[in-house]
Amino acid sequence: MTDLVALARSFFVPGKGILAADESVHSATARLSQYGISTSEEMRRQFRDLFINAPGIEQYVSGIILFSETLLQKGNDKKLFPKSLTARGVQPGIKVDLGTEPFPNSPHELITQGLLDLPERLAVYKSQGAVFTKWRAVVRIDGDELPTNVALHENAKRLANYAKEVQSAGLVPILEPEVLLEGKHSRARSRAVIEETLHTLFSVLDEYAVDRASIIIKTSMTLSGSESGKKDTPEEVAADTLAALVASVPPQVAGIVFLSGGQLPDQATANLAALSRLARESGAPWPLTFSYARALQDEALEVWKGKEENVPAARATFLARLQKVSDALGTR
Ligand code: 13P
Repeated sequence: MTDLVALARSFFVPGKGILAADESVHSATARLSQYGISTSEEMRRQFRDLFINAPGIEQYVSGIILFSETLLQKGNDKKLFPKSLTARGVQPGIKVDLGTEPFPNSPHELITQGLLDLPERLAVYKSQGAVFTKWRAVVRIDGDELPTNVALHENAKRLANYAKEVQSAGLVPILEPEVLLEGKHSRARSRAVIEETLHTLFSVLDEYAVDRASIIIKTSMTLSGSESGKKDTPEEVAADTLAALVASVPPQVAGIVFLSGGQLPDQATANLAALSRLARESGAPWPLTFSYARALQDEALEVWKGKEENVPAARATFLARLQKVSDALGTR
């Protein structure tokens, strides 16, 4: 039987984090279009190959979260993506939620779908090589109105159900309640909402008897809203984020990873550096690392533009960003 606690802990090794390369077809299409790249299944395959098969990534990533389509695709080397990752010591994971829909009780909020056939899908993903999973819930801040308690609670229940199913399937769950950056809110409000979201989540996880030691929490950083006109310093972000996490995340969890959430690559890197430093200095009880999508991939997509001849330069750009983010951890 898989030792889930050891597996969950194994992502947190010095200098390494997790790449989120799990954009759904819808999100991948939006991302590629943003850089003027045409979209088709073949272009999505090339998009994945650019990152997954970039030589040397294994120095910086312990795992990569994939999308279901990618588990079955092959790289330019004709090897299935999960197989080539495993061969390089990078653990393949899979996004298992099926996206969001408006919450009937509060239509401006979103609720995550995907529990119905989850056990069957988990068995398939496992047979295709996945060893860990991710489920994303979305939390929107709007003044003091949103999020509502009912929406926080419903998303927490679904995250708990997900985690329970994943653990019984012998896989590690990443629980990602993403508090969105979009909005006019202050950093203090972001901190309060992150704390409340995680607090609600852990009380529901206890009701469902989810084993805390083999879960990974994926969280947003505490930031002023993107329309607030306020720019936070890395020290402010680190202090507030860590305070929110210390207040709401039990010490037993395997670790905490951060999403980039629309921060620019340099900002996500500087904030991670301040957070890691403060966590070390203050003796935070859990290991921390990155699990970025946009902050790791965007600069490379800009260079790639969907053209074969740009692959080496785009990969060099990706590797340079990975090295900076890895250095920001300060753990090597
Ligand atoms: P970003 O780093 O682009 O926010 O994506 C991380 C992620 O996994 C979102 O679900």
